[in-house]
Amino acid sequence: MPNLTAERLSVDLGARSYDIAIGPGLIAQAGAEIAGLSDAPKRVVAVTDHHVAELHLATLERSLGNAGLAFDAFVVPAGEASKSFAGFEKLCEALLSAGLERKTWLIALGGGVVGDLTGFAAAVLLRGLDFVQIPTSLLAQVDSSVGGKTGINAAQGKNQVGSFHQPRLVLADSGALATLPRRELLAGYAEVAKYGALGDASFFAWLEEHGPHVIEGDATAQIRAVATSCRAKAEIVAADERESGQRALLNLGHTFGHALEAETGYSAALLHGEAVAIGMVMAFDLSVRLGFCQPEETDRLRRHLAAVGLATDLTDLPQVDWNAERLLSHMRKDKKVANGRLTFVLAQGLGRAFVTQDVPEAEVLALLQDVIAASALGQQAIG
Ligand code: GLY
Repeated sequence: MPNLTAERLSVDLGARSYDIAIGPGLIAQAGAEIAGLSDAPKRVVAVTDHHVAELHLATLERSLGNAGLAFDAFVVPAGEASKSFAGFEKLCEALLSAGLERKTWLIALGGGVVGDLTGFAAAVLLRGLDFVQIPTSLLAQVDSSVGGKTGINAAQGKNQVGSFHQPRLVLADSGALATLPRRELLAGYAEVAKYGALGDASFFAWLEEHGPHVIEGDATAQIRAVATSCRAKAEIVAADERESGQRALLNLGHTFGHALEAETGYSAALLHGEAVAIGMVMAFDLSVRLGFCQPEETDRLRRHLAAVGLATDLTDLPQVDWNAERLLSHMRKDKKVANGRLTFVLAQGLGRAFVTQDVPEAEVLALLQDVIAASALGQQAIG
């Protein structure tokens, strides 16, 4: 195994600042990392899901025990259903029955579902507990574990009930990425490419060369990709924790992507990252139509995402009866709608994204109609 160098950076939020460590073996070092903090807890409760428990819980428990921390663990079912009101209630009752105290910390060991659910439990139980994120998916390592967004889903939509609650520490173990199915790794990669596309053209160029290595499992490339992504997110979150402005840049591709996910029922037919990849291409296409961006920039984005193996338009997806009006109506229910206007992240080019509410809905509708028409032609050609 090559000698891998861990990276460490911090999210600068005054008294609520915290470190993000990225590197190999961090689950095995979690106990020492937590015990080394100035106000370290005596007891921690880990929350994870069945898949992750099989792979990593024993390592975490050993490390907590070695560091002299008392611990319990709760295992929730894997999958989005755990982020329901019912799943949340069950978890809170189990945690409360285990005898929490204000000084007990929670640990979220897993992907985005476990992180969001555990973070929200930490935000509200006993009016607020500290918690540590140990993200095991690429998507969670580069996005959901950083920045303090926590929450659960409602019948009305994803992440509609939640809170900003920052973790005390994030430990992104690069070794965990080796256990991910390729499809999940690819979906997480869309969020990595997002950081290049939204604000860092040189990172995007680096990804054009090394993105395939990230997907093939090159740990050095993975650590650099995760660290650069986290650094970008940490800077944005430090400047705008509660998304009153710049943080919305992190939603590049998400307004379109969420509509696609809603239309496919947030099912395994289309993973979040897969929807974001297609959504980013749509956002760049819209930027070209509105005269902000050169078509070559969209082509470069599309080529890179396709080169690593991500779908870049609807033709690449399982057949769905797409409807432009319906997609637009999903967009209108987005959390980012302000004063009835849709919020879009558009771009002047790779690395030069901006947030706007000045996009005529007719332009969005026309784009969706054209994309759907092109995908119908593509499906015919494939069929
Ligand atoms: N996932 C976008 C954000 O954390 O703001």
